[in-house]
Amino acid sequence: MLKDKFVAVGVTGSIAAYKSIQLVRLLKKAGARVQVIMTKSACEFIKPLTFQVISQNPVITDMFEHPVSWEVAHVALADKADVFLVAPATANIIAKMAAGIADDMLTSTLLATKATIVTVPAMNVKMYENAITQRNIKCLRKNGIEVLEPGEGDLACGYSGKGRFPELDDIVAHIKIILGKNSDFKYKKILITAGPTREPIDPVRFITNHSSGKMGYALAEKAIQRGANTILISGPTNLKPPLGLYKYIPIETAEEMFKAVMEHYLDADVIIKSAAVADFSVKHQETEKIKKQGFNMNIELKKNPDILQELGNRKKQQVLIGFAAETTRVVSNAQDKLKRKNLDFIVVNDLAQEGAGFAGDTNIVKILHKDGWVEELPKMLKVDLANEILDRVYSYLPQNRAL
Ligand SMILES: Cc1cc2nc3c(=O)[nH]c(=O)nc-3n(C[C@H](O)[C@H](O)[C@H](O)COP(=O)(O)O)c2cc1C
Repeated sequence: MLKDKFVAVGVTGSIAAYKSIQLVRLLKKAGARVQVIMTKSACEFIKPLTFQVISQNPVITDMFEHPVSWEVAHVALADKADVFLVAPATANIIAKMAAGIADDMLTSTLLATKATIVTVPAMNVKMYENAITQRNIKCLRKNGIEVLEPGEGDLACGYSGKGRFPELDDIVAHIKIILGKNSDFKYKKILITAGPTREPIDPVRFITNHSSGKMGYALAEKAIQRGANTILISGPTNLKPPLGLYKYIPIETAEEMFKAVMEHYLDADVIIKSAAVADFSVKHQETEKIKKQGFNMNIELKKNPDILQELGNRKKQQVLIGFAAETTRVVSNAQDKLKRKNLDFIVVNDLAQEGAGFAGDTNIVKILHKDGWVEELPKMLKVDLANEILDRVYSYLPQNRAL
């Protein structure tokens, strides 16, 4: 995703400057080319040589270091950048950016760039909450400069509150989202369902399954990174919804998932039903906890609405993808489901295989297409499988279908 992208990173004089060393490492690891510019104050915290080694590029610190070529250097860097990170961003740089000051290499380059600028504030909570800093942040946002929300917690200055440098993975994910806005799913709306459902028996008990939601969340993350407006409808999981979702809709029961899907499917370009929706729910839910004494050991069940079938019946322009988890007659059961539910393709987990299925980070699947083509994919990480699935979805989008 970041392969061959050019990320300019401005480092300023915050105590969090050392965290940007790891940030630059992660960006490099993701395939980006990185050029660091440091302010004079930043150099009090970290030596430029450290960033030079990690980024494998010279670090720019002084505007007048090369008097003959400085103008070319800062404009060239401004032009080259696909995205411009200011991380960490001091209260001072935020104020200077808001005022349009260009008194050093970083501020001059920031004024000259057309790349998306992402500012990552890190400062003492009082500096962050100061009305002038808040006014400056508002001003940056109004002018199209992104300002990430700082984290909350213990700060290096000994105070506790808002002002922490956000999690590195979240910053990298955000950069991927920005760069993904120019990718193959730009302007596409993708609806993804994930996780299990919970069907209550009484106020303390429920029927559910082993779905962890990992596959659906990986799909949502990759869809966002590829530029899609992504809606994630999810049953209860332990996962953090990916950054950059267009909408996150948490649900509990199959009935709630049905309603949420029906509300959002109509103008979706793609629907991926990776949730493990319970087929049955309890016919008569008890409002009080069922007592051991006198319980007749029978719970009457009723059928839940079949969301995928309903979508298949109503399908128009949408590319519709289903998932199946089978333990026997894997291919023939899935083929039957593919036809019955009017799917474009179905992703089948063979639960009997090690490394496939619910909770793990890997999966082994077969992809059955509506024209009868059966693909066997090797064992791979769910995040990689998510991209494989999206590659196939892409070929089913109306403008990409073979005539
Ligand atoms: C030990 C120390 C830690 C600092 N940490 C921060 C910080 O986390 N955030 C911030 O906005 N300023 C911090 N400052 C103040 C800035 O370094 C100062 O405002 C400086 O002028 C910023 O310059 P720059 O924005 O050009 O890098 C710190 C200063 C010192 C001495």
